[in-house]
Amino acid sequence: MKASEVAEGQGLSGEIGDRAVAVSSSGGVLTVLENICTHMGCQTGWELSAGYWECPCHGSRFNPDGSVLRGPATLPLTSLAFHIENDVIVLD
Ligand code: FES
Repeated sequence: MKASEVAEGQGLSGEIGDRAVAVSSSGGVLTVLENICTHMGCQTGWELSAGYWECPCHGSRFNPDGSVLRGPATLPLTSLAFHIENDVIVLD
């Protein structure tokens, strides 16, 4: 996944290597989260218009930084360390 593909204020879900990720951009800063719901393990999906990640399984919502906005999940999404090489997001 390329860093330039993630527009300011928006997010993309996909894969980096073998990890499912949810990447968002805010204030020019990228955040990379593991895209696995902390409730029961479903993969989350991005709601561009509302600005939060929402799990399609039971409706948990997460802020772009991974913190819980609405349950049933009670734990945040895992934040993944990364760096960028020639515009490509690489997990550390
Ligand atoms: S698995 Fe995501 S809300 Fe239940």
